[in-house]
Amino acid sequence: MKKLAIDGGKPIREKGFPSWPVWDESEINALREVLESGRWGIGGDKVPEFEQKFAEYVGVEHGICVTSGTTALEVALKAGGVGPGDEVIVPPYTFMATASAVLQVNAIPIFADIDPDTYNIDPNEVEKAITERTKAIIPVHIGGCPADMDAIMDIAKKHNLIVIEDCAQAHSAEWKGQKVGSIGDMGCFSFQSSKNLCAGEGGIITTNNREFGDKCWSFHNCGRVRQGAWYEHPLLGSNLRMTEWQAAILLSQMKRLDEQTKIRNENALYLDKKLSEIDGIRPQKRDDRVTTHAYHLYIFRYDASKFNNVPRAEFLKALSAEGIPCSPGYNPLYKDDLFKAPIEKCPLSCGYYKGKVDYTKVECPVAEKACREEGVWFFQSMFLGDKSDMDDIVNAIKKIKDNFCA
Ligand SMILES: Cc1ncc(COP(=O)(O)O)c(C=O)c1O
Repeated sequence: MKKLAIDGGKPIREKGFPSWPVWDESEINALREVLESGRWGIGGDKVPEFEQKFAEYVGVEHGICVTSGTTALEVALKAGGVGPGDEVIVPPYTFMATASAVLQVNAIPIFADIDPDTYNIDPNEVEKAITERTKAIIPVHIGGCPADMDAIMDIAKKHNLIVIEDCAQAHSAEWKGQKVGSIGDMGCFSFQSSKNLCAGEGGIITTNNREFGDKCWSFHNCGRVRQGAWYEHPLLGSNLRMTEWQAAILLSQMKRLDEQTKIRNENALYLDKKLSEIDGIRPQKRDDRVTTHAYHLYIFRYDASKFNNVPRAEFLKALSAEGIPCSPGYNPLYKDDLFKAPIEKCPLSCGYYKGKVDYTKVECPVAEKACREEGVWFFQSMFLGDKSDMDDIVNAIKKIKDNFCA
């Protein structure tokens, strides 16, 4: 049996995985074009061009570029009329922005547990969390795997709720052949550095609803209205506009997105097959209705009982030492310090809110298990190479198992 790298043995892999971001002359030329145009912000043509191209790509009428995925969520919530006194159902297994955006509009995030197979929000738990104060649901397509949008849209219709898809990790993902970001009332994407479509920072809201689109446009543009004058501000907004630099980069990056998604899918499906053969490793389940997974993250579940009860933390250390970058992922959001201390004044105790929430009492056992002992992540650029990269991952895990179980 080969000695583990963590014990001084030779690592399975000594070279890196494909790096991120990917760029070439086309990004340099696009940036030069913006530079030489002298139009670096509003008034340039790159942001409108990208808004139109991305909206078309997703299959919606309107796209509104903003500064980040976080502000996309905040603007979408405001456009949807979510505010003080309202509850918004969110998963606890996601990045903080999904819940903090709700607090930022003075509404209350209500956590609904995730599905143990997909790690996406569980529609049964959503249904249980609904009260007369519920205004919206934010399903997150975690890791780029579409949530069960059939069930979520049915629940939303039944209870007259708004659905804002958090697509921050899911550019190009499809549910039954339809791109995410076009299924709910609004979709929110992030273009932060690590994302599958990236510009360093940035975000976009996608929607087919003209009224929501116009409101998003106003809120991100200082409260102006589309046909109004520069110094007319009928609404309360902020300046959340994207720069021309970001849009220029995104237009170039977008040309590679479909090909990169295809390569990620080929490699990830191959890895799914190989890892499924190892007792104690279960890849994230891909529902048959998921026609394209974005694989921003490749998620699998580690069962310590099949690895001689060695805890996940030790497994991750051994895997990293073998040259395979990996992460344990999130903590349940409601366990974060933000939710431990009582949130003073608005939104929890501002008089508008008629419910009662004590985040220290929230329990989402599936998310807790995923965060504490089971979930493992690989990152999207690891899937941009070829099958030999996947074989290294498989061989590293097999080597670790042999050693742990010897
Ligand atoms: C699920 C999810 N939602 C929202 C965001 C926020 O996006 P940004 O970092 O662009 O503000 C992220 C980014 O990490 C995310 O992963």
